[in-house]
Amino acid sequence: MTDFKEKVAMALGQFTEGIELDELKKLIEIPPNSEMGDFAFPCFRLAKTMRKAPNLIAEEIASKASGLDGFEKIENKGGYVNFFLDKQAVMKASLEEVIEKGSSFGGSDIGAGKKVIVEYSSPNIAKPFHIGHIRSTVIGNSIYKIYDFLGYDTIRINHLGDYGTQFGKMIVAYRKWGKKEDVEANPIKTLLGLYVKFHEEADKDPSLEDEARATFKSLEDGAEEEQKLWQWFRDESLKEFGRVYDMLGIDFDSYAGESFYSDKMDAITDMMGEKKLLKESQGAEIVDLSEYNMSPAIIRKKDGSTLYITRDLAAVKYRKDTYDFDKCIYVVASQQNLHFQQLFKIVDLMGFDWFEKCVHIPFGLVSMEDGTMSTRQGKVVFLEDVLNRAVEKTAEIIKEKNVAQDNIDEVAKQVGIGAVVFQELSNNRIKDYVFSWDKVLNFEGETGPYVQYTHARACSVIRNAKTDITTDVDYSYITSGSAYELAKLISRFPQAVLDAAAKYEPSIVTRHIIDIAQGFNKFYHDEHILVENEAEKKAKLLLVEAARQTLRNGLGLLGMQAPEKM
Ligand code: ARG
Repeated sequence: MTDFKEKVAMALGQFTEGIELDELKKLIEIPPNSEMGDFAFPCFRLAKTMRKAPNLIAEEIASKASGLDGFEKIENKGGYVNFFLDKQAVMKASLEEVIEKGSSFGGSDIGAGKKVIVEYSSPNIAKPFHIGHIRSTVIGNSIYKIYDFLGYDTIRINHLGDYGTQFGKMIVAYRKWGKKEDVEANPIKTLLGLYVKFHEEADKDPSLEDEARATFKSLEDGAEEEQKLWQWFRDESLKEFGRVYDMLGIDFDSYAGESFYSDKMDAITDMMGEKKLLKESQGAEIVDLSEYNMSPAIIRKKDGSTLYITRDLAAVKYRKDTYDFDKCIYVVASQQNLHFQQLFKIVDLMGFDWFEKCVHIPFGLVSMEDGTMSTRQGKVVFLEDVLNRAVEKTAEIIKEKNVAQDNIDEVAKQVGIGAVVFQELSNNRIKDYVFSWDKVLNFEGETGPYVQYTHARACSVIRNAKTDITTDVDYSYITSGSAYELAKLISRFPQAVLDAAAKYEPSIVTRHIIDIAQGFNKFYHDEHILVENEAEKKAKLLLVEAARQTLRNGLGLLGMQAPEKM
């Protein structure tokens, strides 16, 4: 990456004392507007070591540095040194890099040889794939793409919730009230109905809960009939999940969910026993975590059946043994914070120093404008329905606006689904948000359709130009205000990707490409691009191409398509 900040730091290094290059780099700021330069260096930190007032230091640095190669000018103002880069040099270096790297612009190989597991989506079998699941699915997919783009060796795992007492409930309910034909015709909705009925009935007759527990125990012990029903529920559910993943263009390397570890429970609990971590409490086996201000983790119930956390312990050990990961990322809702704190603490207590390589990446809740949903009461918004509706609504908007000529169905899919994905990745992941159709599908706001539309607009300019793109242009044509601003935003894209990876925060990429789209549209309105003068046209076109490529790469990192016509 063309690191202009580094260039400024190097220049500063020549005129400062007692401060390392890295620290200089950290202090350098990007001023709020370009009239104050491309970079600004506050001299306050230096006042002590250099024993001088900040404004005098700034003055001194600016005068010594004036005339340095690569800078248009270097000024001091109120204790700051403002650096104005040589615009043509910036344009040339930035745009050449984009063209040279193409679809890998923004990526790098800093992750080469490092293995990262990204666990995401992980819905529960026989339960609806509802709007709440979109968060882990889409955020996780984007985190995977970002790490992959940075050269890490990534493994995507879907830790399916395909085991546990709820299957005891489901089997009991099916036996009592279910019909095979209904499950076949409409699996998840039927199973959900049965689950809801189970809870209604269990409120009246608590013995049903015991029956469910016993049934799950039989399942765990390998009882044939229970196994068969469970397998059937699982197969049917996966069909539905598969449809959603196809729509979103999401894949996994492994579907090893909770049931995968059912035969690995004894090994992990034995190991915990050997390390003297297990305590007996009312017949159950627990790990006492009071010393760490956490409630105890139940590892085995009185009847010997295992729990969610037991399966997670087996899973993390299995992953370490199988993949020898450098990092294991769990993209799971913040409601499970305590669960992951307990999990990682127990791994630590087992003496595995690699517990530090495990990270829980939490996120907030999504709710619908008309209220939240709860699986128990059966008030559920299915993700598949939301995606289909987004596609339909988008098709209507496209027809109304008359924006796409051909291929409406395909474009509506890319834009409609992309819109939902983009909204999901627009805010800091930890924030709760309310799903709003108006916001999602607004073509003018800071939305997916807006960015995609901007990308398509760039494609159309390039198509209409009917000339080759080359970096051998006269850069003086593109040093104007909005052209220069756009190029700077483009050149900062690789840093945005690095920041997004470091913070596990795809919204950094989202916001950056919104800025680029806005920068592009400003340039598009300010300037006439397809001008008579061939040299000028070629220079401007190069900038358009760089913007197009960067928008496309950014959308790709979010898991979105970039249609060329809309
Ligand atoms: N299936 C769980 C749920 O829907 C999420 C699983 C998270 N991953 C994990 N390793 N525990 O709540």
